Amino acid sequence: MDSNVRPETMARINTPELAKAFIDEQITKIRAQVGNDRVLLALSGGVDSSVVAALLIKAIGRQLTCVHVNHGLLRKGEPEQVVKVFREELGADLVYVDAVDRFLDKLAGVTDPETKRKIIGKEFIDVFAEEARKLTGVKFLAQGTIYPDILESHGIKAHHNVGGLPEDLKFELCEPVKLLYKDEVRMVGKELGLPDNMVYRQPFPGPGLGVRCVGAITRDRLEAVRESDAILREEFANAGLEGKVWQYFTVVPDFTSTGIKDGKRTDDWMVVIRAVNSVDATSATVPEVPYELLFKIRDRIFKEVKGVNRVLYDLSTKPLATIEYE
Ligand code: XMP
Repeated sequence: MDSNVRPETMARINTPELAKAFIDEQITKIRAQVGNDRVLLALSGGVDSSVVAALLIKAIGRQLTCVHVNHGLLRKGEPEQVVKVFREELGADLVYVDAVDRFLDKLAGVTDPETKRKIIGKEFIDVFAEEARKLTGVKFLAQGTIYPDILESHGIKAHHNVGGLPEDLKFELCEPVKLLYKDEVRMVGKELGLPDNMVYRQPFPGPGLGVRCVGAITRDRLEAVRESDAILREEFANAGLEGKVWQYFTVVPDFTSTGIKDGKRTDDWMVVIRAVNSVDATSATVPEVPYELLFKIRDRIFKEVKGVNRVLYDLSTKPLATIEYE
């Protein structure tokens, strides 16, 4: 478990049987590593931390404490799903922290994207550290490190999500999926019984919807991002595009446009629909999405999302555009 190099002899986990064998092996290893001590995990609800949580719950039950920080920048329904799956269904010891106001207050008026990322990253560490200090007897920190994170320690995750725990919080690491590729982590998650929409979800940036609410985040625009994103995901799923299009989301820029409603001019936000196909996020193409579907999404956004009078579809490939807007 201490090696960071995947042995050449290690079989690719591509069947439920191999996933099961991996789970059994890891349960033994985790129990041997952890003994009777407590383990702490920051559970975002993303694939990697969710799989590690489910694995540890199976191995050591309530010796694991999961901390879920709701920073207000998660997609619609995500914090609720984390509580439902981990606390209610898997019986986890889950600390749910509602830090929405705290994050949004810190972000108020901040326009620079990298400063926004830094604030979100730092605030996250601060909230997590505060929760960690409330617990006694924690010896281990579990993390959803996966093999690409080790191979590309200069890569996207490391580049964007900087930061570490403060000096007074020293834990030994428990990283049971660190030698697995993403598809293997999903296979293990599936075998552990996690829901499909958790296991097969599209890439989602650490700063979440915060980078899709362009410029200074306001609560009204953030809700427009969250609501339009939920509609887009639902309609893509209904159209059978889930898992076929690599990443899709909505963005709300920080300027308004003129519209007309009930004979009166309006001054409202616009929603940009972004959908891309990619292998590793270094380049991306734009899928041909049927107009019929786009019209349906537009109509729902007009009807259901407050403060929006315009919907656009982004045609930009990477390069020259990046996938996210900031
Ligand atoms: P860009 O916008 O650079 O995005 O083309 C490439 C991939 O990285 C994701 N992304 C992030 N992931 N923290 C993350 O964990 C971030 O700050 C961040 N910014 C972009 C993006 O969603 C895409 O999949």
